[in-house]
Amino acid sequence: MQQAGLNGIRMHWRETGSGEPVVFLHAFPLSGGMWDAQLSALPFGWRGIAPDLRGFGRSTAGPAGPHTMELLADDVVALLDHLGLTQAVFCGLSMGGYVGFALLRKHPGRVRALILANTRASADSPEGRLGRIELAAKVRAQGTRAVVDAMLPKLLSDHATAGKPGLVSEVQQLMMSNQPENVARALEGMAERPAADDLFSAVQVPVLVIHSDDDAIIPTGDAQIMARGMRGARLQMVHDAGHLSNLEHPAVFSSYLSDFLLHLPPAFTIDSLKLA
Ligand code: MLT
Repeated sequence: MQQAGLNGIRMHWRETGSGEPVVFLHAFPLSGGMWDAQLSALPFGWRGIAPDLRGFGRSTAGPAGPHTMELLADDVVALLDHLGLTQAVFCGLSMGGYVGFALLRKHPGRVRALILANTRASADSPEGRLGRIELAAKVRAQGTRAVVDAMLPKLLSDHATAGKPGLVSEVQQLMMSNQPENVARALEGMAERPAADDLFSAVQVPVLVIHSDDDAIIPTGDAQIMARGMRGARLQMVHDAGHLSNLEHPAVFSSYLSDFLLHLPPAFTIDSLKLA
């Protein structure tokens, strides 16, 4: 695990491989540890970087206030700067996808390509926002266990919940390692996020949408809206998987990812143009 002080926090991240960078953005309320299988299955010539986003895993939280998706995106850009990287491919699942949209909005030049897995472009409904604020209060009062109880049954398919006890406890451990205050701040940050469909027509980079048919948190319709809305975007389904599709069927997820990476057009960054 590597670490550095950046953007007012101490960020920790995992790295594998060398070559062109892919940054993995994790779901709520997990950590970069959810990407281990994808990090070890990256094709030759690719470097995987999986940060613990602000307040998750081993990364610290910084000053008080909601952890907005924009703030998490700024942290990721500070990490790219720290690593001397102009651009990266970003692969975000669920909350990680919300951060991906925040990157497209605020730092579009840093995004070489985007994988949006089990996520959505819409903002929360008023009821959804209220539910997050209530859950944040409950987590502050009762601890991280409150969010585990509320979310764990919805994160994995019934098939995985019944047949893969090791996976259930792995997910539970990733969730429980987060401090209640930081979980609450991320809930408040997600509640504030704007809809991202206004970005669709401006997206110039390759996009892959991945979804799964047993996702109990985000319906497939949301993935179809993203795939139809962004020019050239493709939708790949992970069958018989719940919300955390990369953990339930790591080989299928990694094969979609590898295929996408290996077919990307060459990167043209300001640096490569200068070298030409
Ligand atoms: C996630 O997996 O990141 C969360 O389910 C996202 C959300 O609650 O909207």
